[in-house]
Amino acid sequence: MSNLLRQPVEVTYQDELAALKACDDKAKPVQWQLSPQAVVTYLMGGKTRDGVEISSKYIGNRRLIETAVATLATDRALLLLGVPGTAKSWVSEHLTAAISGDSTRIIQCTAGTDENQIRYGWNYAQLLAHGPSTDAIVPTPLFRAMQDGTLCRLEELTRMGSDVQDTLITVLSEKMMPIAELNDAVYAKAGFNVIATANNKDKGVNELSSALKRRFNVVVLPLPDDMDEEVQIVSRRVSEMGDKLGLPVPKNTLEEIQKVITIFRELRGGETLDGQTALKAPTGNLSTAEAIAVMVGSLSQANWFNQGKLSVEDVSSNLIGAIVKDPVQDKLVLEEYLETVLKKRKGYQQYYHGLNEQL
Ligand SMILES: Nc1ncnc2c1ncn2[C@@H]1O[C@H](COP(=O)(O)OP(=O)(O)O)[C@@H](O)[C@H]1O
Ligand SMILES: [Mg+2]
Repeated sequence: MSNLLRQPVEVTYQDELAALKACDDKAKPVQWQLSPQAVVTYLMGGKTRDGVEISSKYIGNRRLIETAVATLATDRALLLLGVPGTAKSWVSEHLTAAISGDSTRIIQCTAGTDENQIRYGWNYAQLLAHGPSTDAIVPTPLFRAMQDGTLCRLEELTRMGSDVQDTLITVLSEKMMPIAELNDAVYAKAGFNVIATANNKDKGVNELSSALKRRFNVVVLPLPDDMDEEVQIVSRRVSEMGDKLGLPVPKNTLEEIQKVITIFRELRGGETLDGQTALKAPTGNLSTAEAIAVMVGSLSQANWFNQGKLSVEDVSSNLIGAIVKDPVQDKLVLEEYLETVLKKRKGYQQYYHGLNEQL
C-alpha cells in the first residue's frame, strides 16, 4: 500500500479502468481512453463483459451522468452545478480520470486567481535573459490540456472574479488561446474540453457572465432525493474511508448513519420527515458530504478514545459542529428541534441527551 494520503483516482481505480478498457470495443471520441458507455459504467458501477465488478462512484440519476459524458464528447464545456457536497468535484475527478486517464490537470479558482493562472505565466529569469519566447512560457494546466487534447478541470469557477472568468470565453468558443507577446496562439487539439464545478449557494461567489454561461452545458447535481439513497452514499463512503484510515467500522454504524441522515434531512428540509412539524433550517447546508465527515470523525473518536465502540456521545459531539455553524442562530434552531421533535421520538433519546449536553 502506498504511504500517500491520497492518490489520484486513476491510480486508486486503475484495475477497474484497465478492465473496462480491455473489453471496450465501442467507438471512442478522439483521444478518449474509453467509450462514452464505458465511462458511464465506470461512474455508475456495473459489470464488464468479462464479469469484472465495477464499483459505483456516483449514486444517483444515471441520466445526469450520461448527459455530462455526452456533453464532453461535443465542443461544449461541462459545468457541474449544485449546493456544496453534492459530489461535483468527485464526479469531475472521475470523469477526467476515465476519459483522459489523468485527473490532475486542475485549476482551483479563488478570489485571488488571476489571468496568468488561467492562461500562462512567464519564467522571469528566461524572460529577462532572452525576452519573450516559447521557452519562457510557463504553461498552466489549461494550456497543457489544449496542447495535448485532454480534459482540464476548473474547480469552483465562480469563486474567481468575473473578469478573470471571461478569459475562458475565447478558449471555449474559438478553441484557441492567443499569446499576444509572441504574436502567436495555441490551438486546442481534438479531445480538449473543460469540466468546471461551481456551487450556487455559498457566500463569496461571482455570477457567471451570460456570455460564458452560453459556452457551458449545465448539469445540476441534486442532493439525494430519498433517504435510502443518502444512507447508501454515506455508508459506502464511510466504510471506504474507514478502511483507508485503518478505522474499524462497528456493527451499529449503519443504524447511527440512519439517525444522522434523518436529523440532517429534517433540518435541511425545514420539516420532519412525516411532514407533520415545520422546523427552522440552520444556516449551514448539511450536505451528504458533511454527514460523511460527521461519521468518519465519530469512528475516529470511537477508535482512539472509546475502545472502538461507536457511542451516541461520539456521534453527537461531531454532529454539533456540523449543525451549529452560527453560534447564536443555529443554537436556537437546534434547541427548538431537540425540544419539539427529538425529545418525544422513540429511539432518539440518546441523541436528545447527547446533543443537549453539548449545546
Ligand atoms: N450522489 C453521490 N454519490 C456518491 N458520492 C457522493 C454523492 N454525494 C456526495 N458524495 C460524496 O460526498 C463527498 C464530497 O463531495 P464533493 O465532490 O467534494 O462535493 P462538492 O464538490 O459538490 O462540494 C465525496 O466523497 C462523495 O463521495
Ligand atoms: Mg467541490
